[in-house]
Amino acid sequence: MPPADVVHMVLFVDRAAVLGAGVMGARIAEVLAMNNVSVVVRDVSEEFLERGRATVEKDLDELVAFHAGKAEKAISDFEKRAGVELTDAQKETARETLKPTYTEERKQRILDKITWQTSYDGFDQVDLVIEAVPENLELKGKVLRELCEHVSDHCVVATNTSTIGITQVAAELPPERRGRFLGVHFFNPPTTLPLVEVIPGMETRYDVPEDLINVLAPMRNHRYPILPVQVKECPGFLVNRILAPMLQEAFACYEEGVAKPKDIDLAMQAGAGMPMGPLALADLIGLDVVLHAGESIQRQQGGPLPQRPVQVVKQLVAAGRLGQKSGRGFYEYHNQD
Ligand SMILES: NC(=O)c1ccc[n+]([C@@H]2O[C@H](COP(=O)([O-])OP(=O)(O)OC[C@H]3O[C@@H](n4cnc5c(N)ncnc54)[C@H](O)[C@@H]3O)[C@@H](O)[C@H]2O)c1
Repeated sequence: MPPADVVHMVLFVDRAAVLGAGVMGARIAEVLAMNNVSVVVRDVSEEFLERGRATVEKDLDELVAFHAGKAEKAISDFEKRAGVELTDAQKETARETLKPTYTEERKQRILDKITWQTSYDGFDQVDLVIEAVPENLELKGKVLRELCEHVSDHCVVATNTSTIGITQVAAELPPERRGRFLGVHFFNPPTTLPLVEVIPGMETRYDVPEDLINVLAPMRNHRYPILPVQVKECPGFLVNRILAPMLQEAFACYEEGVAKPKDIDLAMQAGAGMPMGPLALADLIGLDVVLHAGESIQRQQGGPLPQRPVQVVKQLVAAGRLGQKSGRGFYEYHNQD
């Protein structure tokens, strides 16, 4: 609840900044720029900035090419599947309906929204900064303290850390800055994965997470509407906390030869409804990232994965809430027929 004497100023993000033009930073900037936010990206050398800029340009080239070919592909797919040939008028209707939303001109407008620089020029004008420098608390602390000298009091500062506690990162900031500091965890690559975990730290002001969710929710990446979810601070936050023990079990099955690697993945796809098997998913994330995240969660929670036994499933079963088959479990299910 807001303290009675606090006037709530709604956050409006017209300009933002990103620290770090690496794997995450460049594409976070891309998503912001696609949504009409002017972005300044700061990195420590021209070489890193150029790499980030090239990543964004290549992404947008692919997006434009996809949109340019969308109508012809749909026409040819339909003709092949239905075994018919569309008339010229029908093709024209399809082309009109599937007109590209991303064109060369729009790509240029997006690129023009991003400024790549090694300085803090213009940081005093931004409403939001997302820090995406390497996962090292000491470095993040140094970078964030330096940042604080260049931004205005109203600016919200967020870290994209995947494994460090938000309150721990906040402790690196001057006390008066901690209220407008929080975690904003994008997933790799943010241009196609829509989830953003919004994680307040212990000293984050009550209104900042919701404000940021309101800023992110109307945005889109290349494929989907951005999906911000507020998450309470805990080791691994939400996705990695659940994912890490699951992957750990898949690795144990692999090591014990419980099934062939391909069958472990197929089994979890065909039997558990996963769109991708756990071993293939681990490969996609990067095994070094998976290892680091798992070890970090274990360290923070002070024990091995999987975690302590939980009570909630026992309670739900005792209450007769068995899931879909009884109409209630974690969710409620209403019979459709
Ligand atoms: N890579 C992922 O899959 C992933 C996913 C989610 C979150 N994250 C988190 O995002 C953050 C960034 O990860 P990444 O994979 O993009 O790292 P990265 O190494 O690809 O990029 C980091 C960039 O920060 C730059 N940098 C270093 N010091 C700087 C400074 N003082 N000022 C500005 N820039 C500086 C580096 O030159 C580099 O270009 C980390 O906290 C990481 O845990 C990563």
